[in-house]
Amino acid sequence: MIRAERLSKAYQGVPAVRGVDLSVPEGELCVLLGPSGCGKSTLLRLINALTPADSGTVKVNGRDIRSTPPETLRRGIGYVVQNVGLFPHYTVRRNISVVPELLKWKKEDIAKRAAFLMALTGLPDKYLDKYPHELSGGEAQRVGVARALAADPPILLMDEPFGSVDPLNRERLQRSFLDIQKTLNKTVLFVTHDVSEALTMGDRILLMREGRIVSSGTPRELVFTEGDAFSQAFFGSEMALKLLTRHQVRAACVREDAEGKVGCTIAADLPLTDALAMMLKKGCERLAVTEGGEILGVLDFAGLLRFFGEAEQDAR
Ligand SMILES: Nc1ncnc2c1ncn2[C@@H]1O[C@H](COP(=O)(O)OP(=O)(O)OP(=O)(O)O)[C@@H](O)[C@H]1O
Ligand SMILES: [Mg+2]
Repeated sequence: MIRAERLSKAYQGVPAVRGVDLSVPEGELCVLLGPSGCGKSTLLRLINALTPADSGTVKVNGRDIRSTPPETLRRGIGYVVQNVGLFPHYTVRRNISVVPELLKWKKEDIAKRAAFLMALTGLPDKYLDKYPHELSGGEAQRVGVARALAADPPILLMDEPFGSVDPLNRERLQRSFLDIQKTLNKTVLFVTHDVSEALTMGDRILLMREGRIVSSGTPRELVFTEGDAFSQAFFGSEMALKLLTRHQVRAACVREDAEGKVGCTIAADLPLTDALAMMLKKGCERLAVTEGGEILGVLDFAGLLRFFGEAEQDAR
């Protein structure tokens, strides 16, 4: 559980964070969304005690961070730094192993964990022996995510963790992260300025502007509630479409005999946005949904509308 109360920070007299109240309950993935310069990274650094606040308090699991020894804080909180921040003179393997080594994990456990994290973030094992300068920006960023997850901390602060990863890998990372989140139930504060990413990832979204949190809610609440002009402009009119990325085709598929009635097929594990795109592109109102070579059922346009309107809130 993370709780911040009336948290403020100014740089050279210019406020960066202004009286922020925030709480992230255990197991929630909370997204902090907002334009460049609105104070997202500053807020994460205040929560992690990397930057001292001018006023206000932060409690992590009920304990004030000012009275928590920094090592305890670092071990309990995985932090993905914006623009990476890997140790340049360490190999990828050592970068990932820093916290497990601090915690005196056994060598073979560290090796196993490193291999698992490389697979999770989609990097080849042989990269473990590379140095940060031998990686592309997106690869380095994935190592940053692996490093934050290394010792399996209960709390994660992630500052634009997938910011410079290409769209395909980014989607894969988002999915694998959500998959592990389902079983591990970490308490996550996830920064992004990408609306799609916020809607895909967030149990709840906090929208920030000029150092303040100006609105908050579940993705569905934010889509269906008319916000102020800033929220509307920030989220954009296609926000409802983006909400479809949160669900797989499987969720809206109706189990009926598809034979002879449909021209197009789509895999059950693709996001519903792909289904809608296929309907538009191919002029196909009904899609046969496939899984492992078998036809699972049918997804039609009316079913998609129904699912979107009714089932969205409890589908996750
Ligand atoms: N160390 C610092 N010294 C002076 N000003 C700073 C410092 N760090 C941040 N700021 C200022 O505080 C404000 C908030 O910065 P912050 O990095 O928190 O924004 P952000 O929301 O993370 O932006 P981005 O999306 O671009 O990463 C900005 O105006 C920035 O210039
Ligand atoms: Mg930032």
